[in-house]
Amino acid sequence: MNAHHRYTAEDQLVWKVLFDRQTALLHRRAAAPFVAGLNRLGLTRDAAPELDELSQRLRRLTGWEVVAAPGRVDDRTFLGLLAQRQFPVTRWVRSMQFFDYHSGPDLFHDAFGHLPLLSDAEWAAWLEHFGQVARRHLHDDHAVEQLVRLFWRTAEFGLTQEADGLRVYGAGLLSSAAELHYCLSAEASRQPLDVTAALAAPIIRDGFQQLYFVLPNWTELADATAELAVQLTAPVAQEQSLR
Ligand SMILES: [Fe+2]
Repeated sequence: MNAHHRYTAEDQLVWKVLFDRQTALLHRRAAAPFVAGLNRLGLTRDAAPELDELSQRLRRLTGWEVVAAPGRVDDRTFLGLLAQRQFPVTRWVRSMQFFDYHSGPDLFHDAFGHLPLLSDAEWAAWLEHFGQVARRHLHDDHAVEQLVRLFWRTAEFGLTQEADGLRVYGAGLLSSAAELHYCLSAEASRQPLDVTAALAAPIIRDGFQQLYFVLPNWTELADATAELAVQLTAPVAQEQSLR
């Protein structure tokens, strides 16, 4: 990657204010591996991160790399990158004017929301495996949609049950103050992760999710991926005859 990207003064201010606001909310809300990853990765309030530095750190920790993306990348490109242990991160930072509302991923969502868990060996191995499953089905529109839905219900909007309570690990939640409050509140609907239900739940891009899925433990993530892989591979008739 070439020389450092020049963030504007407003980019740096937005990063700092968002960083302070979200880190203040992590206590008793964020999953332990996310908090550990945030510290391990060395993200700070003081400066919006340079992607080549994050890449170097991740490569040392788990073998993953960060690649600069122009914004939201299409689903096939995204899934294909995961199989190569590459995570796309946009350098665009939301403006102060749209501080609370942003319709697509920005640097804060991508770097603060997604990268801490990628410094965790177990998560990194799972996401690589998920990408490898995906790579076998990139020619199939239906399969791509199913894979994106499972990613959405876990890596973007997932919750997990820890010994002392419900915790959040999804990047879409950890990078949003309002939905981080909402998803843990009594008003939100939650259920244990179930692949069939997770694939059926509508994806909402312009508001809060109607339903959140809770991982009972981290190994369930690999089990859910294996279950989806079988579904994507087995023709429907064969699947039924095996029952
Ligand atoms: Fe995301």
